[in-house]
Amino acid sequence: MAESMIGMKRTHRCAELCADNIGENVTVMGWVARSRNKGSLIFVDLRDRSGLLQIVFEEGKSRPEAFEKAGRLHSEFVIAVSGTVQKRAGAVNKNLATGEIEIIPDELRILSESLTPPFQVEVGSKTKDEIRLKYRYLDLRRPDIQKNLFLRSRACQIIRNFLIDEGFIEVETPMLTKSTPEGARDYLVPSRVHPGSFYALPQSPQLFKQLLMVSGFDRYFQIARCFRDEDLRADRQPEFTQVDMELSFVDIDDVIDVNERLLHKLFKELLGHEIQLPIQRMTWQEAMDRYGSDKPDTRFGMELTDVSSLVKDCGFGVFSGAVADGGSVRGLNVKGQGGMARKKIDALTDFVKDYGAKGLAYIALKEDGSMKSSFTKFLSEEETSALVKAMGGEKGDLLLFVSGKNKVVYASLGALRVELGNKLGLIDKSRFNFLWVTEFPLLEWSDEENRFTAMHHPFTMPMDEDWKYIDSDPGRVRAKAYDIVLNGTELGGGSVRIHQDDIQEKMFEVLGFTPERAQEQFGFLLNAFKYGVPPHAGLAYGLDRMIMLMTGADTIRDVIAFPKVKDATCLLTDAPAPVDTAQLEELGLDLAPSKEQ
Ligand code: AMO
Repeated sequence: MAESMIGMKRTHRCAELCADNIGENVTVMGWVARSRNKGSLIFVDLRDRSGLLQIVFEEGKSRPEAFEKAGRLHSEFVIAVSGTVQKRAGAVNKNLATGEIEIIPDELRILSESLTPPFQVEVGSKTKDEIRLKYRYLDLRRPDIQKNLFLRSRACQIIRNFLIDEGFIEVETPMLTKSTPEGARDYLVPSRVHPGSFYALPQSPQLFKQLLMVSGFDRYFQIARCFRDEDLRADRQPEFTQVDMELSFVDIDDVIDVNERLLHKLFKELLGHEIQLPIQRMTWQEAMDRYGSDKPDTRFGMELTDVSSLVKDCGFGVFSGAVADGGSVRGLNVKGQGGMARKKIDALTDFVKDYGAKGLAYIALKEDGSMKSSFTKFLSEEETSALVKAMGGEKGDLLLFVSGKNKVVYASLGALRVELGNKLGLIDKSRFNFLWVTEFPLLEWSDEENRFTAMHHPFTMPMDEDWKYIDSDPGRVRAKAYDIVLNGTELGGGSVRIHQDDIQEKMFEVLGFTPERAQEQFGFLLNAFKYGVPPHAGLAYGLDRMIMLMTGADTIRDVIAFPKVKDATCLLTDAPAPVDTAQLEELGLDLAPSKEQ
C-alpha cells in the first residue's frame, strides 16, 4: 500500500551526499534501482536524477517495521528514507559519487509500488527501441538519457543568455500558419470555422522572422519547434527544434562571426572543448569536388580525384561515354585495401547503386606488384599507369571509380567514402571538425518537375557577381547561402535574404511562379517588403542534431524526450490515431476509403 510523505521532507538528492555529511541525519527520496536481500542485511541502491545512494537495513539494528518493509522492496518502488549518513562498512565503490558512504535508516516509507518493469533501468540498456519508446517514461529514468536532456537544457540556457547579451530579442511565431518555403511536405491542420481550409504547421519560422526584420526588431531569435513531413533518418524527426535567428543590416561575415562565438561558448562551457576560430570555410564546389558532399566529414582524408581528363578518350566506353555526356569519372584511393575480397567489392558496388551509380570500377594493386581490375583490359598500359599515378596508387591500394552524371558521381562516392571511413575505422571520433560551406548554387535542376527549384529557399540572395547569368545560365548562379557542418552532419544553414523587389520578382520567374501564385503563397511577405525592408540575413541550427553530436548519441531520438519512430508514429501515445466521425463532421471532412477497404 502506498504511504504519504507527510511529515517527511527531503533534505538532499541522493548524490548530493558525500563523506562530508557523515554523522548527519538526512531524508532522501527516489526509486529503488536494486535491492539485495542477504538475510540479516538488505542493501538498497536508491536512485534519483542526481545518482545512486546505498541504504543498508540491518536486522536488529534498523527499526523492525522498517526492516520488514525493506524486505518487500522491488525495483522501481518509490521510497522515502530518513537516517544517518555513515562511512561504508563494506568496500568503497570508486565508480559511485556516493561510494564512500551509506545510509543507516530510521524510517522507510513506500510512497508507491511498481509493477515489474519491462526492462532494467540502467545505462546503455540493450533493450529494443520499440520497448524503450513504448515505456519512454521508464527509459527516461536511465541516467545516460537524463544526462542528454540536462545537457540540452543547459545548451538552451547558454544560447539564450548569449544571444540576449548580443542584442537579440526572443519572439514566438505562430504554429498555426500558412505553408513555409522549406520544401518538405507540410503537416496540415483542418479549420473548423473555415471548412475546407487548412493551417500548415511551420517547417521553420522563416517568413515570420523576415517580417520581424521589416518591423525593426533588428536581431531576433527563437528556440522554435518545426514540422516537416519527410522520411525519418537517424538525424531527422518530423517535429524537431531549431535555434533560429535573423539579423538586420548585416552581411555573411556578421552572421558567421556571431555564430562562431556562440558555438565557441557552447562547446567550451558544456564540453570544455575549445573550437579553433575562425572555423574553416570551404565553397560548395570545393566540398563537392574533394568530398562528394556538401556536408563533408573532414575528420579523415580519402578525398575524391577527378580523372575525367585522363579517361575521356580511353577504350572503356563507360568512362569515355560519361565524360562525353557532360558527366565525369572520379575515384577514391582506399589505402591498404588492395587485398579486399571480391565479395566485399561487390557489396560496395551494391552500396553505390543505391545512389544511382551504374557500377563501381576498381583497380586492386597487389602487394606483389600485380594488379586486378574490372576494366583496365580496355585501357593501354600507359593509360592505366597514368590513372594509377593520378590516384596516388601504391602497392596494396584499392582504387574505386564511379562514372556518370556529376550529381550521381558525387553522391555515390561521397557516401561510399563515409561508409568506408566508418567501416575501416578511419574516423577519429574524439574530434569536432567544424566547417562552413559557402557559395551554394542558388538553383537546383529538378528532373521530376522539369524546372529549377531553390536550393535553400526562394528568398536567398544571389551572389552579386553571378546575377548577370540568371537568364543565360541560371545553374551557374551562386547564392549567399552557408551551412555549418560538424563531423559530416549539417548542423545549420542560412543565407542573406533578397530585399530588392526586382531580384525577388526575377527569382520567382526563374522558379516558375506566376506573379499571382507568388502573391497567393507569399503575398503577406512581399507586401510587407513594400513598406521598407532592411537588408537582412539569418541562420537556423537543428538543436536536436547539435545535442546529438555533443553527447555522442547515435540518433536524435536519444536527445528528444518523446520522439517518434521511423514511420512517424509515437509508440507511447499511439499517435497518429483515428478520430470520431462527429469530430470529422465538425471539421467538414469526409475520408476517402483507405486502400485496404
Ligand atoms: P534548413 O531547412 O536548412 O533551414 O533547416 C535548418 C536546420 O534544421 C535542422 N533540420 C532538422 N533536424 C531534425 N529533423 C529534421 N527533419 C530537420 N530538418 C532540418 C538541420 C538544418 O540544418 N529557414 C531556414 C534557415 C534560414 O535560412 O535561416 C531553414 O529552416 O540541422
